[in-house]
Amino acid sequence: MGNSTEGVAFSLNDSRFQSSPGEVMAELREKCPVHFSEVPSAYFTISRGNDVMNALRDEMTWSSIYGPGLAYNKSGDGVLVSSDPPEHTRERLAISRIFQPSAINKMEDDIRSLTNQLIDGFGEKNACDLIKDYAMPIPLTVMCWLLGTPIEDIDRFRRWVLPMAEAVAYSGGREASDEVRLAYSNFFEYFGSHITKRANTLSSGAMVPDDLLTQLLTVERGNERLTHKEILGFCQFLLVAGSATTTLLIGNAVYRLLEFPEQMQKLQKKKDLLPNVIEESLRYDAPVHGLFRTNTCPVTLHNVDIPSNSKVYMMFGSANRDSDLWEDPDEFNISRKLDDLKRHTAFGVGTHYCLGAPLARLEATIALQTLLTRLPSMSLNGTPKNVKAEVLNGFEELPVSWGDRPK
Ligand code: HEM
Repeated sequence: MGNSTEGVAFSLNDSRFQSSPGEVMAELREKCPVHFSEVPSAYFTISRGNDVMNALRDEMTWSSIYGPGLAYNKSGDGVLVSSDPPEHTRERLAISRIFQPSAINKMEDDIRSLTNQLIDGFGEKNACDLIKDYAMPIPLTVMCWLLGTPIEDIDRFRRWVLPMAEAVAYSGGREASDEVRLAYSNFFEYFGSHITKRANTLSSGAMVPDDLLTQLLTVERGNERLTHKEILGFCQFLLVAGSATTTLLIGNAVYRLLEFPEQMQKLQKKKDLLPNVIEESLRYDAPVHGLFRTNTCPVTLHNVDIPSNSKVYMMFGSANRDSDLWEDPDEFNISRKLDDLKRHTAFGVGTHYCLGAPLARLEATIALQTLLTRLPSMSLNGTPKNVKAEVLNGFEELPVSWGDRPK
C-alpha cells in the first residue's frame, strides 16, 4: 500500500476537522487525496472533486450495499441509500413518485404558515436560538406531516435526530453512548408501533391519511410491497436525512449572510438572488461532509492501493471547495450563476442523488424569505455551537437577536 496518510492528520473525530473543515479538506486535497485512517476503525477518504464524482457515478465499484456509514451494515437490510442497482432502481422508481416536485409544491402554503407561526411565537422577545426555535421545528414538522405523526411529538424527535446522526461515524464497535442507544430504542419503539397501527387500519379498509407513510405501505417494488423492517429503516433514515440536514442548511445560510454583510446587502437589493443564496450555502457549507461506499474490487488511486471491501469516505463537502471545479472556491459569493452553482455535490451525485432535494430547497427558501421579511435587522448574538455528529456540518445552536419586535 502507498503511504496515504503522509503529511495530513485527519480522522472523523478530529476536533480540528470539526472546527475548521475547509482548512483540513484543502490539505487533504493538496497533499493526501486518498487518506487512510484507523480511527475509530479503518477507512479511506477521497477528497478531490473529480475523484469523488467519478467514484459516485460508478456504483459497480463503489457499492452502497453495506450502508452509508462507517460500520458494515448487514447487506440487504436497507432501502435506497443502502442498496445498489438493480434493487435500488426498483426501489427508487417506486419511492420517487412520492417526492415528485408537484407533490412537494403542494406543501408551500403550509410551510409558509408554519414559518410565520414560529416567528409569531417569539412575541415580544428580541433574541432566540435560531436552530432550536426556528430551523429545527420546520423540517421536523414537515416530517410529521409526511409520516402522519402528531406535531406535538417533534420534541421527542428532536431528541433522537442528532444522536442517531452520530452513529453514521461509528465503527459498529462499542462507542455508542447511552444517549445514542436510547435514541435508537425510543425511535424503533415509537415508529414500530406507529407503522403497525397504520398497516392495521389500512388492511381493515378504514380511511387513512394520504401521506408518505400510506404510500410506503402500499407502493409496489416490482411485484412486492416493502417489508415492515424496510419501512422502519427508511423512516429512520428519513428522519435524520430529511430533517437534520435541512436544519443545518437554514442555519448555515443565515450564518453566512450575517458573517458577510455585503452579501446580505446584495440580497436585500435583489430579492430574486435567494435561490443563489441557498445553492451557494449548499456549495460552501455542504450540510453532509461526506458518506461512505464499500469498494467491490481492489482499486489503486493516486498510487494508493485500496483493498477490496474497504469503507471509503466520499467527501461531498471537499468536492465543493476544489479549485479544479470552482473558481475562487473559498469565497462565499451569491452572484455566481445559478445553473453553474447547481453542479455542487451537497445532494450527492449519480444514482443516490438526494430524493428530497426539491423539498429541502422549498423549506429553506420559505424559511429565509420569512426571516428576511419579518426580522430584517437580525444579527449574531453570541458564539454558535457546532453539531457533534462527525459527518454533519453546521450548528446545533445559533444565537441571534434583532432590534424591534418581529414585523
Ligand atoms: C439540505 C438538505 C439535504 C441534504 C444536504 C441532503 C443530502 C443527501 C445526500 C448527500 C444524499 C446522497 C446519499 C448517498 O450518496 O449515499 C441524499 C440522499 C437522499 N436524501 Fe437527502 N438531503 C437533504 C434533504 C433531504 C430531505 C428533506 C429528504 C426527504 C424528506 C431527503 C431524502 C433523501 C433520500 C430518500 C435519499 C436517498 C436517495 C437514494 O439513495 O436513491 N433528503 N441526501
